[in-house]
Amino acid sequence: MEHPFVTTKTPELLLDLDAFEHNTKMIAKQAFGKKIRIASKSIRSLELLRYILDSDDVFQGVMCYTAEEALFLYENNITDIIIGYPTTDQLRLSKIAQVHGEAKIFVMIDSIHHVNELEDLAKAVNGRFYVLVDIDMSTQFPALHFGVRRSPLQQCEEVLGVAFAIRQSQNLQFCGIMGYEAQIAGVPDFVRGKSLTNKLIQTLKKVSMPQIEKRRKRIVTCLEDHGFICRIVNGGGTGSLSHTVCEEVITEVTVGSGFYAPVLFDHYRDFQYNPALFFSLPIVRQAGKHLYTCLGGGYIASGSVGVDKQPLLIYPPGASLTKLEGAGEVQTPIHYLGTLHIGDSVLFRAAKAGEICERFDNIIGQRNGEVEQSFLTYRGEGVCFL
Ligand SMILES: Cc1ncc(COP(=O)(O)O)c(C=O)c1O
Repeated sequence: MEHPFVTTKTPELLLDLDAFEHNTKMIAKQAFGKKIRIASKSIRSLELLRYILDSDDVFQGVMCYTAEEALFLYENNITDIIIGYPTTDQLRLSKIAQVHGEAKIFVMIDSIHHVNELEDLAKAVNGRFYVLVDIDMSTQFPALHFGVRRSPLQQCEEVLGVAFAIRQSQNLQFCGIMGYEAQIAGVPDFVRGKSLTNKLIQTLKKVSMPQIEKRRKRIVTCLEDHGFICRIVNGGGTGSLSHTVCEEVITEVTVGSGFYAPVLFDHYRDFQYNPALFFSLPIVRQAGKHLYTCLGGGYIASGSVGVDKQPLLIYPPGASLTKLEGAGEVQTPIHYLGTLHIGDSVLFRAAKAGEICERFDNIIGQRNGEVEQSFLTYRGEGVCFL
């Protein structure tokens, strides 16, 4: 097998444009009449966010992760922005409250505490906040919390309590809800060699899914019965796209990871995207027989700690990380029975989609073994949000 990319003798972040475009089309095809919002945390490049938004009308708006990022996107003409998580960044929130006109930045809350804080900030600058309420989509099984620990709001009365507080405020406007069913969207259920765990997770997902649909519908109905208009009902993620779009009350689904298709998204029963994002490292020395050492490489993904969070070595085929060192901060030894040389490059895929972009200024887009276009990462733009 020939090296699939043109590389230089430095660490590089590489995008297979054919795979990226294929994934983008596949995601668009599954929209089922709903809008798809892009999760910026899994892209971390303004140029690539634009590329996706321009590729198809189903892509509308961005879900970003900090207030500072929301302002950055707004200043760069992205007009429909949800900050997907609550923020306490008063400086940036005050600026957001003063954004007027067609463009909207929606802020996420899940408590009356958040309402009061936003109301005080908005009053101080004579501004306004467009607010979404985050709903807990997790499922409780005996001895297992299946989902993430984020919003505490699950029952209609709890959501209504926050919605009424928004209504009573002077400077906040209720715009809808978001519920991220992480246990469906973010949990692989088709991992090779783990058939028992796969079965268990598939069963838990199967039980969980109808509950999610019912909860979302119940909450939207309840809000509407009390006169609240849910202009936005956002749900899902890459791993739940095909299910979430089918829910009647859903207006949009957020997708991020599916575009780059990192390793953790290889292992789902319902879909298979094409690996699009890679990084290459040069071999800088030979440590011993069959042992070659690369520069850099320790790009470990976030989340609970495990070997699944380390990068996957894919070229040359048959090469592997060493168990004792893994992917190192500045040196990554690999074991390979064939012959390699100093200056050759070794290819990896990161476990998760966006974080790797924080290590590189550019993403080098290639097609048919040729460099076609380079895209700045957030870091390359000189910005860093998380
Ligand atoms: C609020 C929210 N929505 C959607 C997603 C889905 O993102 P992705 O498609 O990258 O998995 C996430 C991921 O963590 C999220 O936190």
